[in-house]
Amino acid sequence: MAFLEINNLNCFYGNVQALWDVSMSIERGEIVALLGANGAGKTTLLNAITGLVRPASGSITFMGEALIGLPGYAMLEKGISYLPENGGLFPDMSVRENLEMGAYPRSMWKDRKEKLAQVFELFPKLKERQKQLACTLSGGERQMLAMGRAIMSGPKLCLFDELSYGLAPIMVAEAFNMVRRLRDGGITVLLVEQNVKQTLEIADRAYVLENGRVELEGKCRELIEDEYIKKAYLGL
Ligand SMILES: Nc1ncnc2c1ncn2[C@@H]1O[C@H](COP(=O)(O)OP(=O)(O)OP(=O)(O)O)[C@@H](O)[C@H]1O
Ligand SMILES: [Mg+2]
Repeated sequence: MAFLEINNLNCFYGNVQALWDVSMSIERGEIVALLGANGAGKTTLLNAITGLVRPASGSITFMGEALIGLPGYAMLEKGISYLPENGGLFPDMSVRENLEMGAYPRSMWKDRKEKLAQVFELFPKLKERQKQLACTLSGGERQMLAMGRAIMSGPKLCLFDELSYGLAPIMVAEAFNMVRRLRDGGITVLLVEQNVKQTLEIADRAYVLENGRVELEGKCRELIEDEYIKKAYLGL
């Protein structure tokens, strides 16, 4: 069984179906990308994994354990960390307080000093600005903070929803670089992205969702040469 395994997932909002028989798997140590147009169902899938949306049918297992039915707050304890679409920061709390909130599960709290030092090493800028309120950070700094907070819990799997959103090209490269460093540090990553080209360059495998269905999946180095991907997602 894969590290994260999703089988035949169906999700509805009222009577509108958002995910149709979605199956996907992630092996430990991979960077897997989830691509697709606006409204394709990417966020819905992440919300289903993290218990924020209850699927109508299908299964999700993480390290062999069923996730469906567990509350969202149980995810950090299981080793799954979620960076939601808007970053999910606490705007009126300081950089440091936001980071400490990421160490919320009781089992992590005692290690928070050590984790904080790790995050500050990865993101020196956050150390400089640790007393600043999150709402006064620049867009790029906010994304760094969101990423830093996501690793405060010492996760095994990180789910990043549009990490590169609103970032200048140089910061996009920086964010992707950071994803690679996390993976090299042993964290498995599921990446939802609109920056298709760069994502295909750093991820191992990708799934393409269209209208709630998996239309295409494969190794990134093959997808990047795929005629359909070139036309529909790379503008070539
Ligand atoms: N809470 C909700 N209630 C009703 N419909 C919803 C809800 N959340 C999402 N949807 C619908 O489900 C579909 C999938 O949305 P989702 O947010 O998963 O897409 P996405 O791939 O993340 O898009 P984007 O790239 O714009 O973030 C859309 O048609 C959306 O309107
Ligand atoms: Mg989304």
